[in-house]
Amino acid sequence: MGIVWNRFIQIKVWILRKSVTSVLTKTAVTTLMGAMLLALGLTAYAQHEPFVVHDTKPVIMHGPYLSSLSETAATIVWMTDTPCHAKVLFGPKGESMTREAHNAEHGLLPIGTRHVVHLTGLEPGKAYTYKVVATRAVKMKAYWPEKGLAVEGPERMFTTFDRSRLAVSFSAIADTHEDLARVKGLLHAVDWAETDFLVHLGDAFHSLESEDQLFARWLGPAEKAAAGEKLLMFIRGNHEMRGAFARNLMEYVPVPEGRFYYVRDHGPLHFIILDTGEDKADETNVYAELNKVEVYREEEFAWLERHLATDESAAEAPFRVILLHQPHWGWTGEREDKWTELANNEKIDLVIGGYFHRLRIYKPDSRGKDFWMLALEQDQVARVEATLSDLLVTVKGKDGKVLETLAIKARR
Ligand SMILES: [Fe+2]
Repeated sequence: MGIVWNRFIQIKVWILRKSVTSVLTKTAVTTLMGAMLLALGLTAYAQHEPFVVHDTKPVIMHGPYLSSLSETAATIVWMTDTPCHAKVLFGPKGESMTREAHNAEHGLLPIGTRHVVHLTGLEPGKAYTYKVVATRAVKMKAYWPEKGLAVEGPERMFTTFDRSRLAVSFSAIADTHEDLARVKGLLHAVDWAETDFLVHLGDAFHSLESEDQLFARWLGPAEKAAAGEKLLMFIRGNHEMRGAFARNLMEYVPVPEGRFYYVRDHGPLHFIILDTGEDKADETNVYAELNKVEVYREEEFAWLERHLATDESAAEAPFRVILLHQPHWGWTGEREDKWTELANNEKIDLVIGGYFHRLRIYKPDSRGKDFWMLALEQDQVARVEATLSDLLVTVKGKDGKVLETLAIKARR
């Protein structure tokens, strides 16, 4: 490349010399050519000069935590104190972490303090070790941005979901509403060794105001308890649709789908994660004409109809479990019947949510629903265990006392 470039410069200089010698003196031309050669030559060589690396290391402030997990992918999030670019080193457990995932967008590595990297191409039911890496970007400039050093997170391990597994378990909590003592008590009550993931069923907050609040009142304690090894699934509650920071929520609980409703398969369970939206009509003045939940929920319903009509795993899984915030599907322009009819027709087995701040259990055949419905109280943990034939739900208090159990048999 250097030889070609130099030859190009020589030809250009020769042409220029020929064209200007008629009007300039020989001395002037020689001086001009010398200056041009110097400038062009310097550019050609100087562009390979090393960039500056300052002796400054970023600090990992939060994470890493797993915000999404499927059979073939995982989403890892962490925060640094200063702007950095990011990557994740990973590999199958027991092997060296030779694979590298980055988060480039449109050909550029993002620079920031919040880092989200999606690992893809994973195998179902396989354990992977990983390590996050963040490198400081000290001063961004057009050329030679000034960098700092890299910080590496501790080695962590997760296991991908696997629909062929014969037995799985998960835990659920709801409506913690910024009560730190409650959050810590519930996280302590989760049997982390025996749970594949934890789902927060929404209303972790009264309203969303800032990043600091997100970490102080839920994500911080949760990511410490999950230790970057167990998925922290987050369902949006009606309170998470409120506040100055509500529009930023997805940035902190990202999933590859980029929306608050999607599906997952794990063992005998087909999970449908839904967003039940707000609990009052869009026209209500408290929203000051900023909400478009009704049309959003219509789109979600159309997606759900399509999914249940066409997805093989939805049809074949021994159990279909819906995770949401408002157990009665939320406010949908008074069209709850439509959602219930779909769930009945598609043999939904269990709906788990929160919202009421009281433990409520609806057996099949109540309110026209052919499925079990469970709404958790604020200080309870539901542990769900599934085999090919049985779904067992145990609701416990923070003290470990068993409050309710549901035993559901597979219907297909
Ligand atoms: Fe709530």
